[in-house]
Amino acid sequence: MIWDTHAHLDDKKYSDDLGEVRQRAKDAGVTRILNVGYDLAASERSVKMAHSYPEFYAAVGVHPHDVKATSQKTWDRLQSLAKEDRVLAWGEIGLDFYRDLSPRPKQREAFIQQIELADAAGLPVIIHSRDADEESLKIVKAHRPQHGGVFHCYSGSWETAKILLDLGFYLSFAGPLTYRNARHLPEVAQKVPLDRYFVETDAPYLTPEPHRGKRNEPAFVREVAKKLAEFRGITLEEAAAQSWKNAECLFRLTQQKLR
Ligand code: NI
Repeated sequence: MIWDTHAHLDDKKYSDDLGEVRQRAKDAGVTRILNVGYDLAASERSVKMAHSYPEFYAAVGVHPHDVKATSQKTWDRLQSLAKEDRVLAWGEIGLDFYRDLSPRPKQREAFIQQIELADAAGLPVIIHSRDADEESLKIVKAHRPQHGGVFHCYSGSWETAKILLDLGFYLSFAGPLTYRNARHLPEVAQKVPLDRYFVETDAPYLTPEPHRGKRNEPAFVREVAKKLAEFRGITLEEAAAQSWKNAECLFRLTQQKLR
């Protein structure tokens, strides 16, 4: 059994064949999917999917690309969504200085604000940090998420990883782990403690090898787990089981949330 801990299946790229995508996931042993919000509408769709499909759970939050369009109303609505059953995390939130689609001051402000909202909601955070690790670190050091969090699609150095692990964060691996030019990732994958990692697709983005170039989907998370197993010298089953257990630990999958 594999858990795809980060996907965006509410994306319109799946509107024609979501049923088939879900079936292929099931056939590949991917029996749990955390669908992650990136703005208010996507968060609402994620919660709806979590209530419609037994393998789906939801995270709610606003991606740094989209924080420019937020208002108090957005935060109020997200706060009430966060209370729904099957909502496991606040995310994805963070900083993206690669594309800079929202002004940086607004990104910083919304990142801190959403850490505080996650704390108040009793949820861990899912963090997106691209070309911004130094500033992301500064923010999470000053505003430690009370219920923990994960740096998703981690691609930074082992030095940064060590600091994040010391702060209690988890690291999540996605398709780039399978790319031949994955610079720091082999080292991070080998050294991350066995109780602090898990795997994801970030579908429809970051499609792993050998499917690179196609639309990504949860079934392909097997390739990420396989590569992780290879780096760590364990079996795919062991990597998948450890990843599942670690995700349950961070996302505190209690009986109530399993409803
Ligand atoms: Ni994402």
